[in-house]
Amino acid sequence: MSDTITSPGYFELVNSQRAQRDLRSDPIPEDWIEKILEAGTHAPSAMNSQPWHFVVVQDESVRRAISEGARDAWVGFARDMTKDQTTPGFKAVDQWAMGGLAEAPVIIVLCGDTQVLPLEQMGSSIFPAAQNILLAANALGLASLMSNLPLFAPDGALAKTLGLPEHVVPLATLPIGYPARKLGKPRRRPIKDVTSRDRFATPW
Ligand SMILES: Cc1cc2nc3c(=O)[nH]c(=O)nc-3n(C[C@H](O)[C@H](O)[C@H](O)COP(=O)(O)O)c2cc1C
Repeated sequence: MSDTITSPGYFELVNSQRAQRDLRSDPIPEDWIEKILEAGTHAPSAMNSQPWHFVVVQDESVRRAISEGARDAWVGFARDMTKDQTTPGFKAVDQWAMGGLAEAPVIIVLCGDTQVLPLEQMGSSIFPAAQNILLAANALGLASLMSNLPLFAPDGALAKTLGLPEHVVPLATLPIGYPARKLGKPRRRPIKDVTSRDRFATPW
């Protein structure tokens, strides 16, 4: 391995998970990328079909093209759909969507192969791999997030940029890099606010 990894324990890792957009552009060692991908490929999937395909983008011109597509989607419709544009979180997303995304040294585009599994069954087989990837990146001291904004680039630009065949559908982008700054603890709702016992609305 490139460096000695001293990973935090699982619950420390998962309970500190944040969507980190502010990434340094320093390259990530190839063996770390493979370790992250390996975590992705160990996710469960329908009938163990493993319908994923990962396009690992490091080339700067491809990163810029993905970022420009995301910006077009953001400016075209997504920005105006955001209700509260005054929250500090909005500013960070805005900067990232307007070009910051290209700074990520690695953008994993997580795709589903519809020749392996129908698209309508894809979610439950693809998103566990995404979460494995996000946590594996965090375990290595890297930062990550999942965004679907680049998927909404006009005219299917993302698939065109990546040269995806028609049966391989992009489902999420996962920018990964060294964190440019340390984030605080995540603010998340307590489980009692989002959980019912046995039937809906019976309190936990
Ligand atoms: C319009 C809009 C879309 C967003 N979409 C995502 C998304 O797809 N995934 C995500 O993790 N965060 C998304 N965010 C940012 C989230 O607000 C933020 O990442 C999430 O609440 C977790 O933040 P935290 O990890 O910093 O606590 C979006 C924000 C805005 C304004």
